[in-house]
Amino acid sequence: MISFDNKQFVISTDKTSYVFELLNTGHLRHLYYGNKDDVSFIKPGWDIGDTIAYDDNKKLFLESELLEVSTCGKGDIKEPFIELINPDGSLTSDFLYKSHSVDKCEIKLHNLPSPHGECEHLCIELKDYHFEIYLYLHFYVYEKEDVICRNAVLVNREKEDIVLQKLMSLQLDFENDDMIFTCFRGSWANEMHKTSSIINQIKLVNSSNVGSSSSRANPFVMISSKDANEDNGDVYGFNLVYSGNHYEAVDTIIQNRSRFVSGINPDRFEFEIKNKESFESPIAVMTYSDKGFNGMSSNMHDFINRHIVRGKYQYNRRPILINTWEAFYFDIEERKLLELARKAKDLGIELFVLDDGWFGGRNDATSSLGDWTCDKNKIPGGLRKLNEDIDMNFGIWVEPEMVNTDSDLYRKHPEWCVEYDHHSEGRNQRYLDLSNDELVDYLIEIMSSVFEESGCTYVKWDLNRIMSDLYSKKNKRQMEFVHRYYLGFYRLCETLNKRFPDILFEGCSGGGNRFDLGILCYFPQIWASDNTDAEVRRRMLYSYSYGYPVSCIGSHVSACPNHQTGRTFPLGYRYEVAKFGCLGYELDLNKLSEEELNMVKEQIKDFKENRDVLMYGRFYRTDEKHFKVSDGNKEISFDYNLINE
Ligand code: GLA
Repeated sequence: MISFDNKQFVISTDKTSYVFELLNTGHLRHLYYGNKDDVSFIKPGWDIGDTIAYDDNKKLFLESELLEVSTCGKGDIKEPFIELINPDGSLTSDFLYKSHSVDKCEIKLHNLPSPHGECEHLCIELKDYHFEIYLYLHFYVYEKEDVICRNAVLVNREKEDIVLQKLMSLQLDFENDDMIFTCFRGSWANEMHKTSSIINQIKLVNSSNVGSSSSRANPFVMISSKDANEDNGDVYGFNLVYSGNHYEAVDTIIQNRSRFVSGINPDRFEFEIKNKESFESPIAVMTYSDKGFNGMSSNMHDFINRHIVRGKYQYNRRPILINTWEAFYFDIEERKLLELARKAKDLGIELFVLDDGWFGGRNDATSSLGDWTCDKNKIPGGLRKLNEDIDMNFGIWVEPEMVNTDSDLYRKHPEWCVEYDHHSEGRNQRYLDLSNDELVDYLIEIMSSVFEESGCTYVKWDLNRIMSDLYSKKNKRQMEFVHRYYLGFYRLCETLNKRFPDILFEGCSGGGNRFDLGILCYFPQIWASDNTDAEVRRRMLYSYSYGYPVSCIGSHVSACPNHQTGRTFPLGYRYEVAKFGCLGYELDLNKLSEEELNMVKEQIKDFKENRDVLMYGRFYRTDEKHFKVSDGNKEISFDYNLINE
């Protein structure tokens, strides 16, 4: 519910309240975010000595105020929500209240993904004191899930251009009593290390600048009270519906008064906004629970399952798959594929996934990305025939955003490639310039023909390097490149989702290098890591579960010794970990003994019997080695000690 009384805005969900007031100056002072039954307002700011007084009466000191939106140049020196260069080159902004409106709606952004489903909506119109520049603050309320989403839209009604240097999606000012900031850091095959720091007077930043949301710093973060544990204490969770460079920072200047912001990373970002043009920031998601980390996670899980994941596979059973990557790598041939499929089908596996190596002349990672035609040397009958012969649901691997210089596509269209001078390679490949509409149109058609020809019902969509040597040959404003890349990427995904509503897409980026809510708006599940070691995956499952439901985590049983770590774990243990997620097998079944094959058969039977509760039951963590899912009737536990007895 949203109300406005006595100059106070109150946003309520089932269990939380968010309150701010309109000051006479037109600023929005933040008063409270937390438990609905325990509302107490934060005190106004004060003069701390050499602070700047905003008004002639010397009553408002923005540096010590808690605000809904902070700007540059008027005395608020904490992390700003927005930074821009005005038409006259000046840098000061002062956005003040003009009007507001409340309605019920489904979020519709211009060209970014957003949650679906009806919500209550508060829009506050602010206008710059000097210029005809408007800032619209949006609050979207999902009562049942205790989630509030925010974003902002900047509109330039000046005749001259302005340059936007930073526009966050969310700002939350709060009183800080040794609160903890937790983020999930990592690298390739080593994703999601839970990392916590006490919020003190140092700025803490979690951000990505690699051109994707990144395994280095997942955009999901938490702020919690110092005494919070899994079941008790105040916990705030935040995420961003965005897949490019992101930024989350906690800044404290005056002790106990902190600011959290999240949005597009302002580093190497700038956008020119002409007369009547606008810029929208991605949707940020926030939730609060006084029931500790599990309470916060439950809100996030419900929100993602109900309002982020969509289409045919929302709340639907995901098929158990066999994937060819760790079974054969690039060494694929029709006979081996058919044999693997036969074995998999006998065991009860439901989907056969043909991974990398099926197209162009791709025998290793040095060539052919971009040439999406079946390699008839490996699969003489082509993909459709293979699909029919396999006689199971059929899926394929693609990496549409990339090109190898050794490919027909690169030879024909070097101008579509993101490269500069002596380009530095990652996995021998380069980005295609998705900020170029013509290329996106091409990719829509080429991917459509692959999906149609193969008759696939599943697509694994990969992205195997980070960005470097940024340079769009088409769009000359290079500071806009990464964001424009994602606008192109989302158009590509949106169109393919609409054209192929029956295809289940699994996102992948060399594992978890693009594990975020933007991706989940199009791809209901994501391959969490290229590391399939069961112990490592147990740790990752624990970490991912803070911000993401297990129903969106791709999770496979692989061979031992494990290909990434060389370690060996019993087949039973590997399954016990993988079953909390979208289960798959990624190994050559021909190499398993009869006894092992029987075990796999039993595992698959077990998974099918328990799939609904495993995927969509309430997930509770006790600690890193103990967790469970429950749908109220059935409970399935993971107990590290019992399993390893
Ligand atoms: C990435 C993926 C793997 C596999 C390979 C194929 O690394 O994460 O699962 O698909 O690409 O090249």
